[in-house]
Amino acid sequence: MKVTVVGAGAVGATCAENIARKQLAEELVLLDIVEGFAEGKAMDMNQCATLNGFDTKITGSTNDYSKTAGSSVAVITSGIPRKPGMTREELIGTNAGIVKTVTENLLKHSPDVILVVVSNPMDTMTYLSVKSSGLPKERVIGMGGILDSSRFKYRLSEAIGCSPNDLQGVVIGGHGDTTMIPLIGHATYNSTPVTNFLSEEQQESVVKETMVGGATLTKLLGTSAWYAPGAAGAYLVESIVRDQKKLFPCCVYLDGEYGQSDICIGVPVVVGRNGWEKIVDYDLSSEEQEKFNASAGAVRKMNAVLEEMKLI
Ligand code: NAI
Ligand code: 2OP
Repeated sequence: MKVTVVGAGAVGATCAENIARKQLAEELVLLDIVEGFAEGKAMDMNQCATLNGFDTKITGSTNDYSKTAGSSVAVITSGIPRKPGMTREELIGTNAGIVKTVTENLLKHSPDVILVVVSNPMDTMTYLSVKSSGLPKERVIGMGGILDSSRFKYRLSEAIGCSPNDLQGVVIGGHGDTTMIPLIGHATYNSTPVTNFLSEEQQESVVKETMVGGATLTKLLGTSAWYAPGAAGAYLVESIVRDQKKLFPCCVYLDGEYGQSDICIGVPVVVGRNGWEKIVDYDLSSEEQEKFNASAGAVRKMNAVLEEMKLI
């Protein structure tokens, strides 16, 4: 199995390191546009092989896509991250051109690849990859909901005072500060609704802190986060390469599901060897569905910029 990660920056390198540590691929290619950067990161990671006990061979590449040939999965993290005070949506002007070019280059050498899109604004970048790749919709998956759900469980665990590993919780909708929807009414603490353990006020606070999770870290770090985003990318790759059929929220192309069409947005999906294999219909309340529709409206507005930029 061969996996490529495009963008050897903070998220891409962390994702690659997780993929190697978990031995998800025999061959891993790390590609970046900056001369020598990916080669340097690859060499550094290869020197961890005996320390961390993996056999994955990591190859760095400065924009040479022939090295990515025959990849089963490619993770796209290339582009600029947010700075404090910026929204993910403000990145579109720079990142859309990058994601389109990267998608086309990957496809030339790996026509059967499954694309995992991480670059922001992720929902719109996933839509752009679906449109510009011509790949079957099941082979393009945006990663945002896995990260947001992990942050949701972190906040829930703090509020309840329990292990995050005892919690189930899902965030659907767009991967944006105002568009994501933490489904607190569906979240459980070992099969018991979390709402049994939290006051209304605590529930509101958990939801609010989850939604601004990325912005909170960007303010602290001066750039956006990378440990959890990189780990979340590798978690998604794992479900594909090990055909795990995990159920988690991903950004996928909708064709009437959840009342929406011609849009990529976060919904619960089963992910395996063929990409996303099934959209699972959560029984949303009318209030949750209304929020989902509003979230889709905001994502659609961002997608319209792609047309203005003549990228689709
Ligand atoms: P970074 O600046 O550390 O790394 C980005 C890398 O992309 C740089 O090394 C840069 O040289 C490279 N790059 C730029 N143009 C390229 C091209 N045409 N081809 C190949 N490589 C190219 O940024 P970071 O922190 O790694 O973030 C990457 C992206 O991921 C950002 O857009 C960020 O907003 C997004 N992100 C998405 C998350 C999600 O959950 N979907 C979570 C965290 C970040
Ligand atoms: C994050 O959620 C900014 O998408 C990035 O950390």
